[in-house]
Amino acid sequence: MLGTALLAASRNRRVRTVVTKSPLTRRVVTRFIAGDDVTAAVGITRRLTSGGFDVTLDHLGEDTFDRGQAEATRDAYLTLIKVLADQGLSTGAEASLKLSAMGQALPGGASLAADNAAAICAAAAGAGMTVTLDMEDHTTVDSTLGILAGLRKEHPWVGVAVQAMLYRTEADCRDLATTGSRVRLVKGAYAEPKSVAYPAKADVDRAYVRCLDILMSGLGHPMVATHDPRMIAIAQRLAVQRGKSPEDFEFQMLYGIRTGVQEQLRAQGNRMRIYVPYGDDWYGYFMRRLAERPANVAFLLRALTTR
Ligand code: FDA
Repeated sequence: MLGTALLAASRNRRVRTVVTKSPLTRRVVTRFIAGDDVTAAVGITRRLTSGGFDVTLDHLGEDTFDRGQAEATRDAYLTLIKVLADQGLSTGAEASLKLSAMGQALPGGASLAADNAAAICAAAAGAGMTVTLDMEDHTTVDSTLGILAGLRKEHPWVGVAVQAMLYRTEADCRDLATTGSRVRLVKGAYAEPKSVAYPAKADVDRAYVRCLDILMSGLGHPMVATHDPRMIAIAQRLAVQRGKSPEDFEFQMLYGIRTGVQEQLRAQGNRMRIYVPYGDDWYGYFMRRLAERPANVAFLLRALTTR
């Protein structure tokens, strides 16, 4: 219930103003977000990579209302890639893109988002980085997979996130589990109608396992993005059964969440990539993290009431 209300609030402008204007919210926000600018993101990248982690960086921002805003987001990624390269941190790093922030929802937005993403992929290729497309609500999936297919013609290493909660995703995993393809499997963070997504968490978890099996049995590079210890254990077992070595797949977790498990998986010799969001447009991302775990709301309320 609370999760659904928070997901609705993540799209509400009035709530957004109240939450973002409170200086106290910031104490909680910094737990999940690297900082407001590229300098903060690069600092966190340096710390994580020197500790043996891989990173994927997300310049925060989603609802884009005009071309200029979409191009500014593209340019923010180009700056990020340049700064990482200048500081010797780009090789093996990844950028995570939300196509909505690249203009996908504007009139003619699919080609605008594709062009912006292509410019980022070209810069990433030059810097030894990869790119993965985040997946947003179900109305964007066909467009995102279409743009992915176009980008992969030039850059076969471009990855995509798929959401186990959607009924369609097992079929998408079968299509995507081909040579060289990088697929990030997540449970799904958006409020979806039951016409397209499993309403019950237990069914989402079962779907996650089925999708994992398809990806681990395929020829691509599965990116197992979850904090759920059961899913992690099943992924490890499936990897052994399907003959995938630790280099052939990776675990991914969000910055600031279950850092002890992140460290443990890395120490066991797994590839462990941390998703590092940065930028001042953190509201939607932050609210989805609250929605995932009621304890985070208690943490926020404590911060708002304790001086
Ligand atoms: P689940 O929600 O069952 O949580 C398992 C356990 O993890 C919890 O019991 C708790 O201990 C811990 N946990 C989970 N969320 C937490 C939180 N917010 N705070 C504190 N503890 C928490 N979604 C999407 O729709 N599109 C996308 O592109 C992405 N991309 C993405 C990248 C990466 C690297 C990750 C890890 C996740 C995403 N997601 C996403 C989000 C994803 O869909 C999902 O909402 C969250 O990962 C939570 O689901 P879990 O698999 O962790 O399981």
